[in-house]
Amino acid sequence: MLEGKTVLLVITGGIAAYKSIELIRLLQTNNAIVVPVMTKSALQFIKPLSVAAIAGSKVYTELFDLTAEAEMGHIELSRSADIILVAPASASFLSKMAQGGCDDLASTLLLATDKPVFVAPSMNVRMWHHPATQRNLNAINDDGIITIGPNEGGMACGEFGLGRMSEPSEIVAFLNSYFKQGPLLGKRIIVTSGTTHEMIDPVRYIANRSSGEQGSAIASALADLGANVIFITGPSTAPIPANVELTKVRSGREMHKAVLAQLPADVAIFVAAVSDWCIDHVSEQKIKKNSNGPPVLKFNENPDILRDVGNLKDDRPSLVIGFAAETEDLYKNAETKFKKKGCDWIIANDVSATTGYMGGDENKICLISAKQTEDWPLMSKKSVAKKLAAKICTALEV
Ligand code: CTP
Repeated sequence: MLEGKTVLLVITGGIAAYKSIELIRLLQTNNAIVVPVMTKSALQFIKPLSVAAIAGSKVYTELFDLTAEAEMGHIELSRSADIILVAPASASFLSKMAQGGCDDLASTLLLATDKPVFVAPSMNVRMWHHPATQRNLNAINDDGIITIGPNEGGMACGEFGLGRMSEPSEIVAFLNSYFKQGPLLGKRIIVTSGTTHEMIDPVRYIANRSSGEQGSAIASALADLGANVIFITGPSTAPIPANVELTKVRSGREMHKAVLAQLPADVAIFVAAVSDWCIDHVSEQKIKKNSNGPPVLKFNENPDILRDVGNLKDDRPSLVIGFAAETEDLYKNAETKFKKKGCDWIIANDVSATTGYMGGDENKICLISAKQTEDWPLMSKKSVAKKLAAKICTALEV
């Protein structure tokens, strides 16, 4: 994880330098400390004042800056960080790195460092495919430097193809997975979360109530223990956890497809409040009020994602966990679902309006397995998530 890590961020000259501000913010959201270094050409694209203000740190630019050398020499600067990230890395800077050039602060730091170095290339598609660039990349990869991206897409120059710098969120996710550790390292865990929207027409839908808070908290707790979390979420007001592989969906059918596409996995946890029904015929145009009275909606059943995964012959995760949201007969209804859906554990919670658990910060759950029924005390949704993550570690014997 990036938490507590110092990232020496080298910004080189390229149009993607404008993304550095967002990158710095995201690194900080992940509790990393950012120390920025800018090359001379980067200064043409972005003001050091903005970078310093966002990073909350001095921006280092010159190799022969007497004040900076007195405060922290360039050798120390390159060693004090946990990693060096070059983003954007221009074609020209990659060429300098490949040759071991050191005529400015940024390239000198890279030559002097003993820390892991990552580059996020950014350039025009033809420059990217040029044999010289590919030669340079091979050379720096052979030196142990790790490349993030680039992406394919439209470019500032109007062309299309490979060469766009990876999005800041992708760079941060990459770094987070590089630093991941914990008992769940190497485990692939699918978590569904949020609600689903079943469209009636372009502006109307039916949905189950769900804030997505419990699903986000569970995904986050598992990622904190090193798991590779595949977070498949429908609409939700909860924050998306930082260290997960995110798939956003809208309807129950989309969620079903997204989950099956992510198998095999070690564990699957179905927290989403999936609508049981979708509309038989979604109107292409907004349905108008007319003298015939309100429209009559015909429903079809949505696929039951938990039941389908729980009953898989091949590719069934070794631990399948469902939720049972009930407003009456909590234990009886949850046990019926437990049997019907083929899950290993079901987490029952009372969602009647009087409990306030739906949409609130706290939850009181009962965990039902083939062996036992465990009533957990009232606790925050984050604590439920941590306790569940610990229980998963025990079940997986990690
Ligand atoms: N679930 C699912 N796919 C559906 C419906 C539900 O994966 N189409 C999952 C939920 O994510 C949850 C569990 O099944 O883990 C139970 O969901 P719940 O809404 O409590 O029950 P339903 O199966 O929908 O049954 P009912 O509405 O009759 O209570």
